[in-house]
Amino acid sequence: MKILIKNIKQLVQTEENPQIKIAGKAMKNLPHIDDAWLAIENDKITGFGKMDDWEGIADWTDLTIIDASDKLVFPCWCDSHTHIVYAGSRETEFVDRINGLTYEEIFQRGGGILNSAKKLNDASEEELTASALKRLNEIMVQGTGAVEIKSGYGLTAASELKMLRVIKKLKTLSPLTIKATFLGAHAVPLEYKERKADYIKLLINEIMPVIAEEQLADYCDVFCEQNYFTKEETFEILTAGKKYGMIPKVHAEQLSNSGGVLAGVEAGAVSVDHLEFVADAEIEALQNSKTMPTILPGAALFLNLQFPPARKMIDAGLPLAIASDFNPGSCPSGNMNTMIALACIQYKMTPEEAINAATINSAYAMGLSETHGSIAVGKQANVFITREISGYSFIPYSFGSNLIETVIINGKIVAIE
Ligand code: NIG
Ligand code: FE
Repeated sequence: MKILIKNIKQLVQTEENPQIKIAGKAMKNLPHIDDAWLAIENDKITGFGKMDDWEGIADWTDLTIIDASDKLVFPCWCDSHTHIVYAGSRETEFVDRINGLTYEEIFQRGGGILNSAKKLNDASEEELTASALKRLNEIMVQGTGAVEIKSGYGLTAASELKMLRVIKKLKTLSPLTIKATFLGAHAVPLEYKERKADYIKLLINEIMPVIAEEQLADYCDVFCEQNYFTKEETFEILTAGKKYGMIPKVHAEQLSNSGGVLAGVEAGAVSVDHLEFVADAEIEALQNSKTMPTILPGAALFLNLQFPPARKMIDAGLPLAIASDFNPGSCPSGNMNTMIALACIQYKMTPEEAINAATINSAYAMGLSETHGSIAVGKQANVFITREISGYSFIPYSFGSNLIETVIINGKIVAIE
């Protein structure tokens, strides 16, 4: 199967010499080719360039030609932080918050993550797989080509493993590239409230060995926050996770400055996510690390949180990634186009910075930047074609509009309008 996309108005995020991430000032640069072509063979990108330099095709057998006149082609978004496997929804808590309760107060009453855990305990693997698959199809049509999915609504050995087995199943059922993360340390279940150390032992001694045995997770994550897990506990859990082959990630500084970034950097985390309460010490630690700071603008919007210092981090020379955090409690949307718009509108990131953050840098944050996140020869053929638009800045500018017309995943056209 071969695809040639020709007459592309703008081919965005092209790389002759692929980088694994883009940091600081360089994020202002978004390489692109005007009036371009892109060739795909089987599941890989095999060539691209300017229409002027196109020398034609030697072999026309089995070739699909797409004319993208007045349209743009992007590498698919990479969404490095989601909780897409869940049961039910939490709009009653949404209304409770409108009426004045805080996210924290709802959690203290046994709602929030604990509410989702109750619902998930009652759901079968089949039900969870079916509802997650619908959400994966929804984000695929919105241009996402690779996604990380966390456990963390189980909070018992049986339910955490159930979630991870569902994610493993999704890897075979969905064309999207999927990475799995063990987030048993998402909240302390009520029955362990007075003996958190025992819950941590359960995570490390009972659940992690099974995860390693069945190869259920690529990453291990912890919600480092007051009333959830401390900096020290976060480090302990991440360190144990590494012994079982899981690379660390952290939910860090979302509701307060709790030490998540420092614990993550020390443990060698691939990413630290949220970052609303990041201060100078965290920025300094990140400057000397390989950890990708990741912002989740949808969750900050939905919970009315203060914004992370995105501008300050980029100006300090850091790379930055954007992800959706798609989950029933703090961001019931996985639309990466919206996340990019929020980053531009609220955080004063330029369209170039936001698009770098949602492609190559978010690919890095899920260990995929050698195969995803840009248009480069040999990379996975995960691209989308827009409707007729003026240029790449139109995506964040025209927030809320659906501007994607065709999605190609692994060299196959999977969605077309
Ligand atoms: O990333 N902060 C912790 N975890 C999720 C929210 C989980 C929930 O409320 O269900 C987040 O925002
Ligand atoms: Fe999250």
